This record gives sequence, structure tokens and C-alpha cells, in this order.
Amino acid sequence: MTTRSKEAAILIVDDNPTNCQLLAKRLSRQGYRCSQATSGKQALQMVAEQAPDIMLLDMMMPEMDGLEVLAVLRRSHDSISLPVLMVTARNEGEDVVSAFAAGANDYIEKPVDFPVLVARLQHHLAHKYLDDEVKTSRARLEEQNRKLEVGNQYKDNFLSAMSHELRTPLNAVLGFSEVLLDEMLGPLNDKQKQYCREIYNSGSYLLLIINDLLDLSKIEAGKLELELQRSEVRPLIEAVLGLMKEKAQRRGVTLVCHIDERLGEVEWDPLRVKQMLINLLGNALKFTEAGKRVTLSADLAGADEIMLAVADEGCGISSEDLARIFQPFEQASSPMRKTHVEGTGLGLALVSRLAALHGGRVTVESEVAVGSCFTLFLPRSHGNGHTEA
Ligand SMILES: Nc1ncnc2c1ncn2[C@@H]1O[C@H](COP(=O)(O)OP(=O)(O)OP(=O)(O)O)[C@@H](O)[C@H]1O
Ligand SMILES: [Mg+2]
Repeated sequence: MTTRSKEAAILIVDDNPTNCQLLAKRLSRQGYRCSQATSGKQALQMVAEQAPDIMLLDMMMPEMDGLEVLAVLRRSHDSISLPVLMVTARNEGEDVVSAFAAGANDYIEKPVDFPVLVARLQHHLAHKYLDDEVKTSRARLEEQNRKLEVGNQYKDNFLSAMSHELRTPLNAVLGFSEVLLDEMLGPLNDKQKQYCREIYNSGSYLLLIINDLLDLSKIEAGKLELELQRSEVRPLIEAVLGLMKEKAQRRGVTLVCHIDERLGEVEWDPLRVKQMLINLLGNALKFTEAGKRVTLSADLAGADEIMLAVADEGCGISSEDLARIFQPFEQASSPMRKTHVEGTGLGLALVSRLAALHGGRVTVESEVAVGSCFTLFLPRSHGNGHTEA
């Protein structure tokens, strides 16, 4: 800092040319780059042309005195970008007060005590350079943020374009394998049927992943809009249970449901709420062994919220893993994972973002080897006149 301070450009302003030259000579010997102005007007012009680092400004000058120069200067240069040290005659207490009020950084009395002047210059220059560094770092950070945003935008566009492009051929794969499976084009032997079913199941799974990716990139890009409407809780829950019943049976897990009858209607996007519950129930069934239970319950949570909870008696999640699982592509290192449990780690990321879009949230409580409970808290209404049933 000291080396840099010594190379600083100092503008010395004094109507007495001898004073000016004397100071300039001594300061130049210290390594400073000095320029001189002998009137206020000339000083302002030189500030505009040379952008000095610091200024020594004589208080008493004919025509435009130091205070007037300072007043004009401070309209364009603050006290950090251009520090100003006023040079005053001794016993000019009142002037010193006015100088500080006008935006001076410091003052020094005539006759100038040179070592004190150098110490003050260095002090103010150090402050200015520190501020310069902060400004440079801030500009660099802003530039990096801008680049990150561009990169993020690029990623979102890429994901959404790719997901669209992948869905079309995939729908053809699903459609044609379904036609073959239905034996519309003639009977299939057992092997052909088995392979067609594999094609259909793998295609369906791929479509689920692509849809999740597309939803996630839409949410991240702020492009997913909820279609809010008022609807009853019970039919929605029953529809979800109907969809998950078969999976529960296949896994040998008992699916239980409790609905508080006082719930009534809620303003939400029913499709997206179903999507969240299917994700949570899908997880609960995936990570719970046969013979155990998964419970879906819907209750009031205060006057303005409802809570939808999915509780299981499955493998549970360790506290380190709990911190990660709501991030895209993050999965816990549960013991069940060793026995190949499918999934890409997008489900909970979607659930938490969709809950947030509803103005709600999702919480989780879990204990390893005991079970987990994921709870969605959703507002009962949005009070924005969006949609009325
Ligand atoms: N009910 C649960 N019991 C135990 N672990 C769970 C449960 N729900 C989620 N997890 C853990 O959190 C991880 C992330 O869940 P998430 O739903 O985001 O992804 P996934 O189920 O692995 O894949 P996807 O949902 O994309 O098919 C899971 O892989 C699992 O490790
Ligand atoms: Mg999942």
C-alpha cells in the first residue's frame, strides 16, 4: 500500500506559485507525481483532465476560494474517490469546521509540517486504495454473477429444448410398443411380448425422468405457472391413492389414509399437488420393506394452512443425507440403495420447488431404521382472486 501511495498523483492548489512549487518539489522527491494549479478554476479543470488521486487545496484564494472549489468538486467526486486536504492558516478554527461540512477529508495548517503532511497523505490514500479494491472486487463479482446467470440460462434453455426433442421420439416408442403389445398387428410369442413390455416400461420410465427434468428447468427459469383452482381435498387424495394402490400391493406395503373432514376446499393447482404426493408416496413405497405401513394424512395446520403428510416405516434417512436430498440429483446412501432402488434424485427437488410455488413448504423428519415423515404445508387460499370455483 505504501509503495502504491508514493506513486500517487497529487494536485496542489495554491494561489501562491512559490508555495505550490515548494510543496511539489518536496513531494516529488518522495516519489509522488505532482501537478499544480494556482486558481480554483484551473484546479477544477485539472481534476477533470488528470483525475488526481488526492488534492491539497489552499483555503484562502482570490476569486474562487478553497471552500467554493470544494463545493463544486463534491458534486461530482465523493470524499473517497477524491480525498481533499485543506491547507489553512493557523487559528482558522471556523474555516476548518466549514471545510469539513463542505466535504473536506482533513486539513493541515500553514506553515506545513512536512512529515505530518506525508503521514496524512498516506493515511487518506490508503483509505482510497482500499475502497478502490473493494469496488474492483465488487465489479468482478458482479461480472462473475452475470456470467453465471448467462450459463444458467443456457443450461435451462438446453434442458428444456432437449426434453422437448426427446419426448417426441419417445412417444413414438411408447405408442408403437403399445400397439405391438395389444397384438393389433398379429399375435406375439412369449419372448416377443416380454421384450415389447421391456421396451414399453423402459420408455415410460425415461419419459418420467424427462418430464421431471423439463418441470425442474421450467421452475428454475421462472416459467412454470400454477393453474390455481378451488377443489375438495378428499377427491384429490383418493385419486392419488388409486394411482399408488397397485404399486403398494406389488411391494407388499399397506397403504393407510386419514383425512380430517373439516378440511373443505383448498385453492391449489390439483395436478401439481397430485404430482407432489405421487413423488412422496413413490419414495415412501420404494424405501419401505414388505409388511410395513405407509400413511397419507391430510389435516388442518392453523387457520390458513393444511398439511399433507406421508409417513413410512422404512429405512429412514441419516441427518447428513437430510441436508442434501432436496437438491437435484442428490440421493441418500441408504442401505436399501445397495439393493438397487431406481430413481434419479429429482423427485424431492421438484416437490420442494412446487410447494414453494404454492407459497408453502415441505419438511421432513426421519430416523434411520425407524421411518420418515415428509409433510407438505400449503396455504388454503392465495387471496389474489386468481380463480374461483
Ligand atoms: N421416504 C423415504 N425414505 C428413505 N429415503 C428417502 C425417502 N424419500 C427420499 N429418500 C431419499 O432421498 C433421495 C432423494 O429422493 P428423490 O425423490 O429426490 O429422488 P429419487 O426417488 O432417488 O429419484 P426420483 O424421485 O427422481 O425418481 C432418495 O434417493 C432417497 O435416498
Ligand atoms: Mg423420488
